[in-house]
Amino acid sequence: MAGAKTPNGHDVVIDAQNLRMIYPGAAGGAKGTVAVDGVTFQVRRGEIFGFLGPNGAGKTTTISILTTLLRATSGSAHIEQIDVQSDPDQVRRKLGLVFQKSTADEELTGRENMLIEAGLYGLSSREIGGHVDDLLRQMDLAASADRFVKTYSGGMRRRLELAVGMVHRPQLLFLDEPTLGLDPQGRAGFWRYIRHLRESQGLTVFMTTHYLDEADQLCDRIAVIDHGKIIALGTPRELKDSVGGDTLEVTVTPGAPDPTNLLQGMAGVSSVVRAGDTFRVKCSHGEALIPKTVLAADQAGIGIAGVTVTKPTLDEVFLQLTGHAYREEGESPHAPGDPEGAAPGPNGGRP
Ligand SMILES: Nc1ncnc2c1ncn2[C@@H]1O[C@H](COP(=O)(O)OP(=O)(O)OP(=O)(O)O)[C@@H](O)[C@H]1O
Ligand SMILES: [Mg+2]
Repeated sequence: MAGAKTPNGHDVVIDAQNLRMIYPGAAGGAKGTVAVDGVTFQVRRGEIFGFLGPNGAGKTTTISILTTLLRATSGSAHIEQIDVQSDPDQVRRKLGLVFQKSTADEELTGRENMLIEAGLYGLSSREIGGHVDDLLRQMDLAASADRFVKTYSGGMRRRLELAVGMVHRPQLLFLDEPTLGLDPQGRAGFWRYIRHLRESQGLTVFMTTHYLDEADQLCDRIAVIDHGKIIALGTPRELKDSVGGDTLEVTVTPGAPDPTNLLQGMAGVSSVVRAGDTFRVKCSHGEALIPKTVLAADQAGIGIAGVTVTKPTLDEVFLQLTGHAYREEGESPHAPGDPEGAAPGPNGGRP
């Protein structure tokens, strides 16, 4: 299919230009909430595109606009070159959506939920054919397909959501925190299946997640959104490199001479910060520096108690870009009664 291309010749599946969404204020004239503040990006065919940001950053709002559930205040969005605002029905047929919140009917069976969804897309029983059974099997739900959803575990519900979202064979899938609440095994199985679909059918995926390790492993590219604005966009490698490469931690023996000058003189070192007997060295290719450091320190008569190298993670990228951790240790992504978590209000804390 001929389609819009990026300057590098990639097929564009999602094209968002300067999207803004202002939720109206409460009655009584309170100011509205700027949830999405001029967002522009393109998603290429066959890629897994991650949309990451803290609670309240504007992720679900953006997905809602792209999937025609919400009308943007301004800006434009096209899916497969179809305008989401002027032709929402056409757009809806192109995409599958697995929402943050469960949408399955608890009082129906898994299979019934799927058949109803297929009916909403106007699929005939011939078109549905064995597809529903296939999906149920692939999602490991064949044995429980005829049980009420209210008897399903959290993992089974998530897998059913995915099966329902795929029933009309979309080539583009929106996943809003699809693995929230799944155990590690459930998460791994879910993503294995998504990867399989991408590889076997060229599926394009737009996803949000609060698990940064998950995004790091899965996503071809990641956009970081904070307070409704995209503040970084690139491959996981590019984002991690942007925070200044590896960190070498050199611990000297008590009373040893200060190695700062020695470390600063080594190739690839950008900075050295002291914390007691430990020296944190920002550098590129940290592994290669380990033997050089040990050798140079030995020659200079500086006793070394230990050297470790750490690679940057997306958590560090996040901390550096936004000034706050993506998610505090132990904090659930959605604390009850706190829809925005620790994030400040839409414009709070902005420079
Ligand atoms: N229906 C609504 N009416 C008014 N304000 C809203 C509405 N939905 C979201 N908001 C506000 O818009 C901002 C963005 O919300 P959104 O749900 O898009 O964030 P998110 O990035 O998906 O967060 P989370 O990680 O918690 O899911 C927040 O300040 C939120 O309170
Ligand atoms: Mg959300």
